[in-house]
Amino acid sequence: MIELAMEAALEAGRFLKMSVGKVKSVERKQGQETNLVTEIDKMAEERIIRKIKKRYANHDFLGEESGSAQSQSEYKWIIDPLDGTTNFTHGLPIFCVSIGLEIKGELALGVVYDPNSEEMFTAQRGKGAFLNNRKITVSRTSKLIESLVVTGFPYDVRQKADELVRHFNNFLKEAQAVRRLGSAALDLCYVAAGRFDGFWEVSLNPWDMAAGVLIVEEAGGRVTDLRGFPSTIYKQQMLATNGLVHEQMVEVLKK
Ligand code: IPD
Ligand code: CA
Ligand code: CA
Repeated sequence: MIELAMEAALEAGRFLKMSVGKVKSVERKQGQETNLVTEIDKMAEERIIRKIKKRYANHDFLGEESGSAQSQSEYKWIIDPLDGTTNFTHGLPIFCVSIGLEIKGELALGVVYDPNSEEMFTAQRGKGAFLNNRKITVSRTSKLIESLVVTGFPYDVRQKADELVRHFNNFLKEAQAVRRLGSAALDLCYVAAGRFDGFWEVSLNPWDMAAGVLIVEEAGGRVTDLRGFPSTIYKQQMLATNGLVHEQMVEVLKK
């Protein structure tokens, strides 16, 4: 299954990279002026689902662009065909494909492929996390003041701007530096690989998080809600860290 997910992510990722600058249709989603979707998002998702369905016709799918098809299957593939659509439409090479699989409601595998850097992040429950087949672990930074942290601004940013800016402002004062890349799945993988020490965001969707959450956990990191309580990929908000700076980040998020 992980090999199939990797193949699907690789093919879709190459298609995304080839399609930069060739977008024909940009639509706005759910009446949100800034929430973009292109024909490339939809085509990439169709390709991924078609490929997996060919092998596993009875599995369930939750795809950002096609929604969910529920059956009685214990297997649910959770797919973001293009994480970082805004970057993609501007030709900014920070985007990826994210494919996660839940078995009986538990995350079992995750694959995130970045076609620009040709980085394939993978994890299977209980088997560790890997970047291009080499094991990765979270960073060992234990002080927030020495941490590089990252966040995202969701599409409902305009309704939550004050809260989001307050958090950002607080981390500017307490962390070493703050970044905002525009791809939640890559933010998570970079925590897993030790490039970032922590990542927080509100208003995420399951497809933004499914693969990345497992990759962080398998790399030795910790994932909770913003208050530090256990969370799931269906609870929208998330704090993912190397574990060592987790409580320090919770304290800042409480302010
Ligand atoms: C978005 C990106 C972005 C995050 C948003 C997501 P999309 O996903 O991950 O970094 O801030 O909350 O919705 O729309 O590019 O797949
Ligand atoms: Ca996404
Ligand atoms: Ca997407």
